Amino acid sequence: SVSSVFDFSSNIFPLSSSTGNGYAPIGAPISSTNPQTALGGATLEKNKTLTYMNGLSLIVGLIIGSGIFSSPSQVNSNAGSPGASLIVWAIAGILAWTGGASYAELGGAIPLNGGAQVYLSKIFGEIWGFLFTWCAVVVLKPGSTAIIAIIMGEYLVRAGIGADAENVSAWINKSVALIGLILVTFLNCVSTRLGTKMGDMFMFLKFVALLGITVVGIVVAITGFSTTGPANQDWRTKGWFEGTSTSASSWAVALYAGLWAFDGWDNTNYVVGEFRNPTRDLPRVIHTAMPLVILSYILANIAYFFVLPLKTINSTNTVAVMFGSKVFGPIGSLILALIVSLSCFGALNATTFTSGRLVYVAGKEGYLPSVFGKIGIGSMTEPHATTLRTRNWASKRMARMFGDEETGLFFTPVYAMVLNALLTALYILVGEFGTLVTFYGVAGYTFYFMTVLGLIILRVREPNLERPYRTWITTPIIFCCVSLFLLSRAVFAEPVQTLIVVAFVAAGVPVYYWRIWGRDKGSKREGSGGGGWKFWRRIRS
Ligand code: ARG
Repeated sequence: SVSSVFDFSSNIFPLSSSTGNGYAPIGAPISSTNPQTALGGATLEKNKTLTYMNGLSLIVGLIIGSGIFSSPSQVNSNAGSPGASLIVWAIAGILAWTGGASYAELGGAIPLNGGAQVYLSKIFGEIWGFLFTWCAVVVLKPGSTAIIAIIMGEYLVRAGIGADAENVSAWINKSVALIGLILVTFLNCVSTRLGTKMGDMFMFLKFVALLGITVVGIVVAITGFSTTGPANQDWRTKGWFEGTSTSASSWAVALYAGLWAFDGWDNTNYVVGEFRNPTRDLPRVIHTAMPLVILSYILANIAYFFVLPLKTINSTNTVAVMFGSKVFGPIGSLILALIVSLSCFGALNATTFTSGRLVYVAGKEGYLPSVFGKIGIGSMTEPHATTLRTRNWASKRMARMFGDEETGLFFTPVYAMVLNALLTALYILVGEFGTLVTFYGVAGYTFYFMTVLGLIILRVREPNLERPYRTWITTPIIFCCVSLFLLSRAVFAEPVQTLIVVAFVAAGVPVYYWRIWGRDKGSKREGSGGGGWKFWRRIRS
């Protein structure tokens, strides 16, 4: 009912409820905590709107972003040959799939919003959940969102003004990136359904685009069609494995580049709590999304090899645009640039959606000020009916249009999304691309590794925990081995960067104690009024 949806009483003091933060003390069995109360009666989770299709378009929309259109050069130049590249793409895809399947098991066993934050807290103790959140909220999420936004800006500008794009000031690209970010954030604040509807549309577009590239590539290979000079013959004349690299480091670098294109496979886990049927749909989403994405990436890569000479593939970081211009001339490069920017826009949309949820959960747990764990704008204590009555005509109409009429406008974690957007904007303005990418790889995979390792630990420690979905035990083992290999390479190849990551994670430790101290102090004071808010609530009711 409306009133229960708008019952914010438990929302204001999520941490002073008798269940505390809901996390079991370290070592205590997870089965003893009730997942429903674990978030202190979260309200967003009561709003279970996501279907299987939404989940699919969310994850596909997030994964297919910039990578498949730009990373092939890094993969190919490091792997050394087309055949080796395709193997790298397959390994990266399978790694992402094993990660996704492992996360699906965790998501089924612990069906709460927040992803790794929740799993790490439950398995290794809350400080690890906090450190993940610290990295994810401050750097990983806004950093990766910024990268996607910047790439979107670059390609849109390129589509707009064509060949001169090389000489455009970075500030123009950045401005376009900012506008895209603001737009996407606004739409996602207005309505959950609007965000997911857009996602559905983009998923369709992306598959069509990749399929289109594949078909064009095959046609070119068969007919030799090309509007710009003779067709590429490299794939016919050179061996597919000629020049394959034998250095493990090069393979690791290639793999990292491929993994960026597959990254995002953990993102449905941030919103598990909002699925109508999470235990059924989460694994289904992963097991349809991943094979589809892997297949379409491999086909697109083959198409690139059919059309473009190896020299071109290795030296450009806009493979897709080169592909378009080689086959269709300037109009082709324009269309491809447009497709890439739209694809990034879709990824921006999806990542904004999930990042908002992560920040929101952090707010609810007391890791961030509690305002970030709130839903919607306006007085939290006001009954919903009043809000609806006093809303002006335009906003009512908008709410009706966007399908959230019953629950109201802005029934989304608005503050959380705004915080994420502000941080993202900061990275867009001052972030350094290379640093961001490396940081993302090292820190991101450290936490992925820990989380999946946690799954194995959990199997041993709590064999009887209810697991609606169980992956093969080889799945997490493969994931852990490969990610350990990647991490160990990164430590040697980028010692300074790795140290920065370690220092940053360590800096989260005092922050953790500071936040927790404040939180527990707050809960002790509960009897004496629990701060001004509770007092106000009592007066007003
Ligand atoms: N796979 C995406 C791309 O190719 C990047 C996803 C970044 N990760 C994220 N959680 N936003 O652009």
